[in-house]
Amino acid sequence: MKCARAVALVGVLLAATTVADTPLEPLRSPQEFDSIRDRAARSKAYFTEAAKVLQHPRCLNCHPATRSPTQGDDLHPHVPLVQAGPENKGTKELPCSSCHGAANAATLGARVKSIPGNDHWSLAPASMAWQGLTTAEICEQIKDPKRNGNRTLAQLEKHLAEDPLVGWAWDPGEGRAPAPGSQQVFGQLIAAWIKTGAHCENRSR
Ligand code: HEC
Ligand code: HEC
Repeated sequence: MKCARAVALVGVLLAATTVADTPLEPLRSPQEFDSIRDRAARSKAYFTEAAKVLQHPRCLNCHPATRSPTQGDDLHPHVPLVQAGPENKGTKELPCSSCHGAANAATLGARVKSIPGNDHWSLAPASMAWQGLTTAEICEQIKDPKRNGNRTLAQLEKHLAEDPLVGWAWDPGEGRAPAPGSQQVFGQLIAAWIKTGAHCENRSR
């Protein structure tokens, strides 16, 4: 019954968001996985859903494979080419802060509609690179204290559910599509994943 209405609503959303250039991708909530009885299988399913966010360009661009950020939905090299520098905030000559402010800033340009911004704008450290990795590899990496900034699973959950830099991905500025769903549902999926044992898919693809 609700189906037709939902389809109509999606139609309206699509029409509205095409104009805004920001398609709204859905993210399923943990409750939708209740029917998976096996705990480990359910845990993996939560992570696979959460990976729609982790693998999204808004996150990947700051967690690149090299020490330079990427841009856009096609993950092209940052223009101009910039380097992480000693503290991941750029080099002395070209700090990230020379262009990225504390908040998103509109531009007058037609091609680049806004410059992304956040108080803590900086590149993720090398140990936290995950561009090009499979979801299973990211899963293993983010729960490994040696590579995740020495975080416990509880701290990892808090970071993902509450960190404003992570949250930027849902408010990325004009001309950029936000990450799927909301940070709240993303946080719930991560919490559910951890509660069910933080299982990862087998690493072979
Ligand atoms: C502007 C750049 C930027 C963006 C955008 C960004 N991150 Fe990060 N991320 C960082 C930095 C810098 C750190 C290291 C901060 C720290 O350790 O406190 C980090 C650390 C992390 C960590 C902890 C380390 C790890 O590998 O376990 C996770 C998880 C993470 N980010 C997830 C995300 C997700 C999910 C998104 C998108 C929704 C995202 N990040 C978007 C810069 C970014
Ligand atoms: C010379 C100005 C300038 C400097 C310096 C600069 N940026 Fe950018 N950056 C931009 C502009 C402008 C955009 C938006 C480009 C676009 O949307 O096409 C951007 C976009 C980005 C994006 C892509 C956001 C997305 O998801 O599309 C990331 C990530 C990023 N910058 C990280 C950094 C980091 C990290 C540093 C420092 C190491 C840095 N930038 C230094 C100007 C700069």
